Amino acid sequence: MRGAVDERVARLAWWQKAVFYQIAPLSFQDSDGDGKGDIPGVLQHLDHLEWLGVDAVWLCPVFPSPMLDFGYDIADFCAVDPLFGSLADFDLLVAELHGRGIKLILDFVPNHTSDQHPWFIESRRSRTSAKRDWYVWADPAPDGGPPNNWLSRFGGSAWEWDQDTGQYYYHSFLKEMPDLNWRDPQVRRAMADVLRFWLKRGVDGFRVDASAVLAEDPLLRDDPPEPDFDENKPPPQRLRRIFTDDRPESLHYLEQLRAVVDEFPDRVLAGEVQGKTERIGHFYGNSRPRFHLPLNFALLDAEWNAVALQGQIDAYYNAIPDKAWPDWVIGGHDKKRLASTVGAAQSRNAAMLALTLKGTPFFFAGDEIGMEQVPVPRDRIRDPFERLVPGYDLNRDPERSPMRWDAGRNGGFTAGEPWLPMGGDIAARNVRTLKGDEKSLLWLYRRLIALRRSTPALTAGDYQPVRSRNDVLCFKRMLANDTLLIALNCCHQPRRLEFDATATLVLSTQLDRDGETIRDATILRADEGVILRLDT
Ligand code: NOJ
Ligand code: MG
Repeated sequence: MRGAVDERVARLAWWQKAVFYQIAPLSFQDSDGDGKGDIPGVLQHLDHLEWLGVDAVWLCPVFPSPMLDFGYDIADFCAVDPLFGSLADFDLLVAELHGRGIKLILDFVPNHTSDQHPWFIESRRSRTSAKRDWYVWADPAPDGGPPNNWLSRFGGSAWEWDQDTGQYYYHSFLKEMPDLNWRDPQVRRAMADVLRFWLKRGVDGFRVDASAVLAEDPLLRDDPPEPDFDENKPPPQRLRRIFTDDRPESLHYLEQLRAVVDEFPDRVLAGEVQGKTERIGHFYGNSRPRFHLPLNFALLDAEWNAVALQGQIDAYYNAIPDKAWPDWVIGGHDKKRLASTVGAAQSRNAAMLALTLKGTPFFFAGDEIGMEQVPVPRDRIRDPFERLVPGYDLNRDPERSPMRWDAGRNGGFTAGEPWLPMGGDIAARNVRTLKGDEKSLLWLYRRLIALRRSTPALTAGDYQPVRSRNDVLCFKRMLANDTLLIALNCCHQPRRLEFDATATLVLSTQLDRDGETIRDATILRADEGVILRLDT
């Protein structure tokens, strides 16, 4: 039996067993007092990563950038912005992480560049420029207006007029972030070389940004109105993005990216797939693979109750292809902090859920200390999304508030002025304080990660749903003769959990019942989740 279990675990790739920790370097640790985090800052906290037990880091962009969109507006794909340090700092980070057995994946932003990128500067120089075709240029409509009705996600027309050359260029996001023209093979080759540049430096893979919008309809057909649109929704959602998103070509380009990553042994390609669970299966690919891990935001988008969560989980498992490996994201730089949306008490259940479901978990630095949305006064708003589409609660600054390391000034994040407000709850929520409390959320993360690693049923076992009732979300993980029952009380009152067996309590979200023996039933306290090992 042992042999079969070991074999099942051994068959998994590292990224199937890994717990991923997302770091937005700007908000992690500032080393030089400019109020913005940097790579030397990340290097200061490798002990934290090791103590927590994470297996892999996803690092948000560190490339030269005018920083209009948190570094997603890139002016050079193969360098490090001095704000973050140097290429030597980056190489050191790779070496230090690898020395501790931690992998590193980078953000890869294929859809657009900054308008300050030399490619775009060259492209807009003239209609006959050698790089004209590297971006999406089009003639005006007969009335002189934009070529069609396409909308930027960040508000207004997706077309920007270029006076000097008398054409419009297309931008899915900011007008300072022109879209690359992926139909041009030179662009595809240049971007493949960007991947190789970093792969040769030792990175273990990438998270592909905005992966569904690489190609647009070559006929430039107008997007139809969104039937469900109402005036309470943000204006960029007015149209259904039939002709700009999810074009079949985009998915083929992802296959080409994957082929480049596969030139190197043992790397991973994860990718951002916004939107509906039903679409996610396409991003794994069929005969030609696309992503290993199309990122799944179902838990973040779900209503937080046992029935809704059970539905989201099932819908997701059903939507992915037979041999696809699942993943679960519970935080990120574009998403509201769960500790705010579901509340501090339920964020313990969120951690237990993401770390016990079948599939690779992803969480965002700060989730482990229960960071909440930090209010940002009007005059300190940095997110262009909120400035361009105001009033729809789209601001992403509140989840990007810097990490707190201790109870001191600015939570130890910076000796200067932090680029975003730190929030008023530093004393209660910082790494040092929570480390000193073995019942804290931080310790729960650590215990769950360790348990996952040491329990083959959790890393490699099968998932089996159990009918959730009485506000308790239930499922099993099983491998050989080991069966774990996970039961999460999703409400704020005690609930009775019944099951037909004797069990040992392995871990409670409150971290105070380990080892209890339970026969047939137990009371879950308000907001309590448990992992039980059923006797066989
Ligand atoms: C997705 C990124 O996660 C988001 O932060 C960014 O604004 C857009 N892509 C544009 O790159
Ligand atoms: Mg700095």
